[in-house]
Amino acid sequence: MIQLGILGLGTVGSGVAELIQKNQETIAKRLGKNIEIKKVLVRDLRKKRPFIAEGKITDNPGDILEDSDISIVVELMGGEEPALTYIRQALASGKHVVTANKEVISKHGKELLDLAQKEGVNLFFEASVGGGIPIIRPMKQCLAANEIIKIMGILNGTTNYILTQMTEKNKSFGDALLEAQKEGYAESDPTADIKGSDAARKLAILSSIAFNTRITPDQVYTEGIDSVNLVDINYARELGYRVKLVAMGKRHSDEVEVLVAPMLLRERHPLAGVSGVFNAILVEGNAVGRVMFYGQGAGKMPTASAVVADIIDAVRSKNGNKIYCTCYDELNVMNPGLSTA
Ligand code: NAP
Ligand code: HSE
Repeated sequence: MIQLGILGLGTVGSGVAELIQKNQETIAKRLGKNIEIKKVLVRDLRKKRPFIAEGKITDNPGDILEDSDISIVVELMGGEEPALTYIRQALASGKHVVTANKEVISKHGKELLDLAQKEGVNLFFEASVGGGIPIIRPMKQCLAANEIIKIMGILNGTTNYILTQMTEKNKSFGDALLEAQKEGYAESDPTADIKGSDAARKLAILSSIAFNTRITPDQVYTEGIDSVNLVDINYARELGYRVKLVAMGKRHSDEVEVLVAPMLLRERHPLAGVSGVFNAILVEGNAVGRVMFYGQGAGKMPTASAVVADIIDAVRSKNGNKIYCTCYDELNVMNPGLSTA
């Protein structure tokens, strides 16, 4: 039995609790052991919390960080502090950490990864970029043989949702933002979404991996969508363009260019048709050519999918071996190409 402590039970935290319960059997088969959520940290003890028994909810971080039975801490509170302090504390006491916090990772990722290495534990952050889209591991592993030339993507679900509602439904910016907040896509303070800093944090994380360097959010030229209005969007549309908040990292011999800004994309551009909460990332490598990653970039269950996958990897790394499947379901294989008729 592996015991987890979760810091935060909002949109993503409650999705993680739900997913661990819903897919319990599948996860246990893959790992050969069960995962149990031992304690969850929240701010407000009075709120109703589905999927978690009342006795497991606490407002004291020490109940998780100082519990030696908890080997994996999952940080889903958001914001820089106290999340950063708690992550440091968890790593320093020999716990693996999983986080979806792009603010902490983009600003302090190197320090935290160094600390994790020193303590012989791991820090996982797949959900910090692209919500449910697998992108951190593919960049670190599957594309590791390439010199990355360029990354270009739509990295913020809230702004893409707003721009899509304005373009396709003629909705006002304010109404579309309210909907994105209701769906749980936006940050608790949506300024980071609208002003482009959330996308800049994600680009800083991806570019640091892609270009083997250290890029911080303050190095990213950043413009948000706050100055985009319905008139701009409608003119662009008449001319065959879509307005998108694009994040781009490009290598020029010894330099890397990193920027986030609203751009006009021709309708046939691969990113122009990415709508609603979906994100997409185009990566160009010198061996693979162009590859594109696409999926839901925010929201409860897609993000939980990435977080729980990290938890599963943390358990595997704890075992010290990489067993990908311990039990197999006996399933019939349908192969229409081998019909005996
Ligand atoms: P959220 O809905 O605002 O939930 C935050 C949770 O953390 C709440 O349960 C809150 O407690 C708890 N919390 C916050 N500050 C705390 C403190 N100081 N002490 C104790 N508990 C505290 O946030 P979210 O949308 O789930 O996002 C969580 C993280 O995932 C953020 O880093 C975010 O950027 C990232 N992320 C979110 C999405 C998404 O689609 N939402 C996608 C990818 C990544 P109460 O419930 O008591 O208020
Ligand atoms: N607020 C973020 C977004 C959440 O809208 O993309 C996912 O990181």
